[in-house]
Amino acid sequence: MYIIGIDIGTSATKTAVYDLDGALVAESTHEYPLSQPHNGWAEQNPIDWWEAVCATLRDVTAKINPALVVGVGFSGQMHGLVMLDENNKVVRPAIIWCDSRTGEECVEINQIVGLDTLMKITASPALTGFTASKIRWVQKHEPENYARCRHILLPKDYIRFMLSGEYHTDASDASGMQLLDIRTRSWSPLICEKLGVDMGLLAEVRESPEAVSRVSAKAAALTGLREGTILAAGAGDNAAAAVGTGVVAEGKAFTTIGTSGVVFAHVKAPAVDPMGRIHTFCAAVPGEYHTMGVTQAAGLSLQWFRNSIAPNTAYADLDKMAESLPIGAERLIYLPYLMGERTPHLNPDCRGVFFGLSAMHTTAHMYRAVLEGVAYSLNDAYELVSKTGTPITDMSICGGGAKSPLWRQMISDVYGISLTDMSKGGGASLGAAILGGVAGGAYPDVPSACARVIKGGSVTTPDKDRHEAYAKFFSLYRDLYASLADDYKKLSVL
Ligand code: XUL
Repeated sequence: MYIIGIDIGTSATKTAVYDLDGALVAESTHEYPLSQPHNGWAEQNPIDWWEAVCATLRDVTAKINPALVVGVGFSGQMHGLVMLDENNKVVRPAIIWCDSRTGEECVEINQIVGLDTLMKITASPALTGFTASKIRWVQKHEPENYARCRHILLPKDYIRFMLSGEYHTDASDASGMQLLDIRTRSWSPLICEKLGVDMGLLAEVRESPEAVSRVSAKAAALTGLREGTILAAGAGDNAAAAVGTGVVAEGKAFTTIGTSGVVFAHVKAPAVDPMGRIHTFCAAVPGEYHTMGVTQAAGLSLQWFRNSIAPNTAYADLDKMAESLPIGAERLIYLPYLMGERTPHLNPDCRGVFFGLSAMHTTAHMYRAVLEGVAYSLNDAYELVSKTGTPITDMSICGGGAKSPLWRQMISDVYGISLTDMSKGGGASLGAAILGGVAGGAYPDVPSACARVIKGGSVTTPDKDRHEAYAKFFSLYRDLYASLADDYKKLSVL
C-alpha cells in the first residue's frame, strides 16, 4: 500500500510516493518560473503548477501499481490568489504569497474592518502576504477580472479541483486568507461582508486529514492515478511540514528554509502575539493550532545571490568558501528583506541591504553574510514564537536550506539551542502523504500516523562562544532595520 504527497512549492512541485511506514518509494520534481513584473510583485501561472503536477504524477505512477494508493494529500504554498471564471478557466495569473503590492489595500482593510476585529477574528492585522488584500487589489485595479471571478481558490486547492472537479479548502491554508474566523474554523461573514467578498466564491472549509473528493476519470487519464483515488483536504505547506516532521504536539517546533523561512510551533489553543508579528493559524491536526513567524526571503536570498552574483558556482562550493571565514564575515551584515518582511517588521516596503561592504570583501564574504542575515531573521521569529504560547522543548530543522551543514550549525549557534535535522526526511511532501493516508483510512489520526512514520534525525548542538559572537552581530543587525525604517518608506515612493 502507498500514500502520495503533492507539494506545490514556489520554485517547483514535488510529488512523492511512500509506503505506510514512510519509506520513500518514488519521487519527481518539476520546476516553474516566478514572474516579477514590478518591484515587489510576484505572480505564477496556475497552469504551470497543474502541468508540473501531471508530469510528476505520471513519473511516479509509472513506478508503482496505482491501485495500491490509499490516498493522496496536498501541501501548498499559502495565500496565493487563484481566480476561476464560470468555465473554470484561470482569470489572471495567481498573485502569490511573497507579492507585496498591496500596502495601500492593507491600510484600507485595517480601517474598513477595524484592527481590533481583525486581530480577534484572524489574529493578524491586514498583511500584504495574505489573500484578502490581494482580492481587494483585483477588485480595485482590475474590476473586469473580479466581475468574471466565480471561484477563489488557494494554490493546492486549485490542483485538487483539477484532479476532482470539486471546490474545497482546509482550515490551515484558509487561515492565511484573512477571511477565516480561526476560532470557529469557518469563513467570517463579517469580514467577507465588509470587504465585499461574496462567500459563494469561497470553497468549503474542511479539516486537513479529511477525505474530500476523488480523482476524476479525466484526471486519471492525465496523471496515471486510478479513477476514484481518495484525495485529502491537505494543508498549507508549513502545517504539512509540521506533520512531516512530527510537530503535532505542544512544545514541538521546527524551522524550515524553503523559498521563505518559517519558525513554527504547535499549540492546542490559539496563542496570539498582540502586535500580530507572528501568525496564529489552524493546524493540520483537527481542532488544534500553530504559531508561525515568517522570513519572506530565506532560500530566496540564496537563490537570488547565486543567480545574480555567483551564477556558475554550486551551493556546496559557496558553503565551503564561506565556512573558512569568521563569524560576522569580517564585518559584513546582510538584511534579507528582498521582498519586504513579515516577522517582526510587517513592512512590505523594506528591501535588502549589505552593510559594511569593503574592498577586501569577496563573493565568499557576501555569501556568508547572506547565510548569517537569514539566520538573524529566523532568530527574530524564534524569539517571538518561543515567547507566545507553550515553551518550546524540541526544535527540528527541515527544508532545502537545512541540507547545508554550515547553515544548520549557524542557526543552532544563533538561536543557542539544539536542532534535530529532519532535512533528509520528506518534510511537507511526507506530511501531505500522511494526510492522504489518514483520509484513506491507513492510519486512525494524524498524531498516531506521525508516531509510526516519522523517524528522528541527527542533532546539531550550539556552541556557547559562537552564540555569544553571533549575538553581537545580531544586535547590530536589529539596530540597522530601526535606522533604515524611514528611508525604506522614502525609497518606496521615489
Ligand atoms: C507562510 C508563507 C510561506 C508560503 C510559501 O505564511 O507565506 O511560507 O507558504 O512557502
